Amino acid sequence: MKKFLLTFAALVAVLTVSAQSATVIIPRPLEATQAKGSYVVTPKSVISVSDDSLVRPAEIFAGYVASEAGMTLAVEKGGKKGIVLSLDSSLGKEEYTLDVTSKGVAIKGGTPQGVFYGLQSLRQMISAGAKTKKGVELQCASVKDKPLLGYRGAMLDVCRHFFTVAEVKQFIDMIAMHKMNVFHWHLTEDQGWRIEIKKYPNLVRKGSIRKQTVIGRWDSQSYDGMPYGGYYTQEEIRDVVKYASERYVEVIPEIDMPGHMVAALASYNWLGCRNEKFEVRPTWGVSEDVLCVGKESTFKFVEEVLAEVFELFPSKYIHLGGDEAPNVRWKECPHCQKRIQKEGLKDETELQSYFTRRVEKILEKHNRTLVGWDEVIHGGVNKSVTLMLWQDKNRQQVTSLGNDVILSPKLFCYMNYYQTKRPYTNKEGDLHCRTAVTLRKAYSLDPYEKLTPEQCKSIKGVQCNLWTEFVKTFERVQTKMLPRMAATAEVGWSQGEKNFDDFARRMHHLRKLYDKAGFHHYATYFYNGVDEK
Ligand code: ACM
Ligand code: ZN
Repeated sequence: MKKFLLTFAALVAVLTVSAQSATVIIPRPLEATQAKGSYVVTPKSVISVSDDSLVRPAEIFAGYVASEAGMTLAVEKGGKKGIVLSLDSSLGKEEYTLDVTSKGVAIKGGTPQGVFYGLQSLRQMISAGAKTKKGVELQCASVKDKPLLGYRGAMLDVCRHFFTVAEVKQFIDMIAMHKMNVFHWHLTEDQGWRIEIKKYPNLVRKGSIRKQTVIGRWDSQSYDGMPYGGYYTQEEIRDVVKYASERYVEVIPEIDMPGHMVAALASYNWLGCRNEKFEVRPTWGVSEDVLCVGKESTFKFVEEVLAEVFELFPSKYIHLGGDEAPNVRWKECPHCQKRIQKEGLKDETELQSYFTRRVEKILEKHNRTLVGWDEVIHGGVNKSVTLMLWQDKNRQQVTSLGNDVILSPKLFCYMNYYQTKRPYTNKEGDLHCRTAVTLRKAYSLDPYEKLTPEQCKSIKGVQCNLWTEFVKTFERVQTKMLPRMAATAEVGWSQGEKNFDDFARRMHHLRKLYDKAGFHHYATYFYNGVDEK
């Protein structure tokens, strides 16, 4: 009898689980309640849209359902049945409501973007719904949802290793699935320049190819002897930007200056302080060779490169990097020293600040906002610059200046770090920093921790980053980002108390959707805290 009761209890549990719909959503919605009754989505269900602007989101959603649930749903204008999408001006830009009743599904959004997020929630509900002969059964539910932060991003470094347009689009698909809205595209580096600039053809002709790549850590002195390269044509970049915009993802290009510029110096050596030949850097780390900030020709180059960048990227933000720019060359360079004197600058730190201010003026003419890594605060920074915080130790200082801040502290947001603290269970086979950012750690980021109300106001977003020194394939890009990207997404989206155990429970549903979407992801058992010891 006892055995029967246990079996019965297990059966009830399974049935309860299979009836879940709104309780599976990641990032966790503001409000989600379930009610009695259900609605079955079948291949005959129609997606009805009230407005032309909702046709494309509906088509994209239909594409998900076709490949993930095997049902081809028609999109219709003006209908009132099935999955009904409409706009509601009382809702905010990214806000939506989703109601499942026995008659159908209604999604309302403040804008098409809000509706798109409602559809992403419905996609997860369909993935987790009970399969019946007719289709997928969804339990009746009511969801009200909107994000905590307006900027929710993910960065991909395509310079240390290169990823194709098709792969970059998949990365954007990953961003969209998690209701994130920014793709930060790290396009230039010491190890490779990846964006075609017509005025400066050597940037891709020479700058996109390194002769060889270091094996192992940056100082191993051992090289593979194999040329490595790749770049995106302007046409390809336009295609990616369009693909992203249809998924409500803003593409922010990063042209990292004045450091991390060796590939540009290898293309045009007059950009450097010394009159010498440079080669695209075959190893990792930080180079002492940076842009010469003394010569006017450098600013002409920057202005002309950015002119093409503005044409390609309609984004509000342009990322200027600004990180890890040693000033040893500037100390020895007559041009740089002359600039310091002429401008009345105190030292080389203020010279970088001078560089940032001058480039910001170029951006202002095009109504763009400059984003810089947190190093740009040294030597002073204008209030109009958005600061991207990556060095955890600087959080108090960076949030005290009155600038807008995007949080990307490396001990929570650098997805190139190990996912486990247990080296003997480390199946990643990679190198990189010896630190671990476990799923739990990524999830534990509190954007407002130890901040005053004034500092809290400066926090505009969160972002997870993938540096790819040790990430050679796109499959590894995905297993590095997933599931940790889901943790960052929930940090940026969900309000109120966070609960890792509940997140891990919902993750078990989302990972099944990863499989259906063809996304590789990291070992499931790590959701349960095995990696913490
Ligand atoms: C950085 O990790 N250098 C921004
Ligand atoms: Zn110089």
